Amino acid sequence: MHFYVMTLFPELIEKGMHTGVLYKAMEAGILSLDTFHIRDYTIEKHKRVDDYTYGGGAGMLIQAQPVYDTYQAVLKRLSCAEGKKPRVVYATPQGSVFDQAKAEELAKEEDLIFLCGHYEGIDERVLEEIVTDNISIGDYVLTGGELPALVMMDAISRLIPGVLNNDESATTESFNDGLLEYPQYTRPEEWRGKKVPEILLSGHHGNVEKWRLEQSLERTRERRPDLYEKYMEQHPPVPEKKKRRKKKKKTTEENMPDGAAQVSGEDAGNDA
Ligand code: ADE
Repeated sequence: MHFYVMTLFPELIEKGMHTGVLYKAMEAGILSLDTFHIRDYTIEKHKRVDDYTYGGGAGMLIQAQPVYDTYQAVLKRLSCAEGKKPRVVYATPQGSVFDQAKAEELAKEEDLIFLCGHYEGIDERVLEEIVTDNISIGDYVLTGGELPALVMMDAISRLIPGVLNNDESATTESFNDGLLEYPQYTRPEEWRGKKVPEILLSGHHGNVEKWRLEQSLERTRERRPDLYEKYMEQHPPVPEKKKRRKKKKKTTEENMPDGAAQVSGEDAGNDA
């Protein structure tokens, strides 16, 4: 996965991505990051990139020209197949809200471009020209798009094969299923009078799995009733088993001596 970020604060993006597993993945060549400083592409002699809004109103807007020229510079660097229009994600509180499904969708791309706004936003005309996805990370307003871009890149990166080790990727699956994680414990067995649930010490794998699912369901119901409802719609409770039917009379085949039925079955199979 190749990330390209158009921003007025490239150092923030670089710092955010050069930590922990993401840094390791970049070192290993699984991820790459190129930042493009929008200010480097302005033709304004004082290097300004913003101006007043037409029609009045508070605040300044980033102009179309520096953003468009930054985009052209990104296109020249792009690794994706020629002719294929790259996805350009604009981090904006006016976008659709980012979630795990969106992260999975974006993780399939080879190249992803992020555009980070500041001030009161960016001239609409260049957004119309280059943006493919308007995405918000939640219903609150931040001072710029860098933190949202980092949040999205983090969530996307951990889905790229090789970025996480196998133990960690299991965590994704549990959220993919639409439920929150069950509570987890490590040593010591007792801390400040609180004991690790007995069942986790039992070594009985089946019971542990059952307990974890119950805990996940309970936690999701309590903390995220919206997710719980969705999960229950997709996994309706299995109705109680119907009474067993009366034992069938043995068929001729079942009455055959050992081995004979198998031979006869094989013959039948040839006809199918
Ligand atoms: N820029 C400012 N606030 C934002 C948000 N909530 N999501 C994405 N980008 C933003």
